[in-house]
Amino acid sequence: MAIRLGDEAPDFSADTTEGPVSFHEWKKGKWAVLFSHPKDFTPVCTTELGAVSKLKGEFEKRNTKVIGLSVDPLDSHNRWAGDIKDVTGAALNFPLIADPDKKVADLYDMIHPNANDTLTVRSVFVIGPDKKVKLIITYPASTGRNIDEILRVIDSLQLTANYSVATPVNWNDGDDVIIASSVSDDDAKAKFPQGWDAPKPYLRIVPQPNK
Ligand code: BEZ
Repeated sequence: MAIRLGDEAPDFSADTTEGPVSFHEWKKGKWAVLFSHPKDFTPVCTTELGAVSKLKGEFEKRNTKVIGLSVDPLDSHNRWAGDIKDVTGAALNFPLIADPDKKVADLYDMIHPNANDTLTVRSVFVIGPDKKVKLIITYPASTGRNIDEILRVIDSLQLTANYSVATPVNWNDGDDVIIASSVSDDDAKAKFPQGWDAPKPYLRIVPQPNK
């Protein structure tokens, strides 16, 4: 069954390049990004894994752990890690799940048979500290992901979780935000005592609260 936003992220146990992982236990209390790679020793994936390794500090700043998946065995992952370092200059510094029997790929519906019946698509799942799925993005195998976009969405999700605000079109960190529709005007007065701009009663704009 397909996973939808708000569902609990399915738990699993798997071997990874950093040893065995039980997913819920591994991410305990943190945000997590789980992202799939169609296959080892493929060009786009090699660039992605180097880029995420370089940005590991940005994920850590956001209290977020990262875990990748590719449907190849561990010895293949370990050999590929050498290539990732050679090509990108960054050593793989987060766990890459070995999923040769496609157990996790199937659990997360990462194989889309009409695209390819053996490789995974490029799935991204962002999972909150409450284990609930907060974001799903699906890219085709041929398109490398924009890692800055994943960080941007985590920033937006964390603002919503912490301050009851939403983020408008093309929002970037530091831009104005929108008071969530679930917050009444009375509650908004307490949360945002400096007030807000309201070009329409349903569009209440405030500066980003944590800046
Ligand atoms: C790649 O990572 O380069 C790739 C993988 C599968 C299909 C197409 C590209």
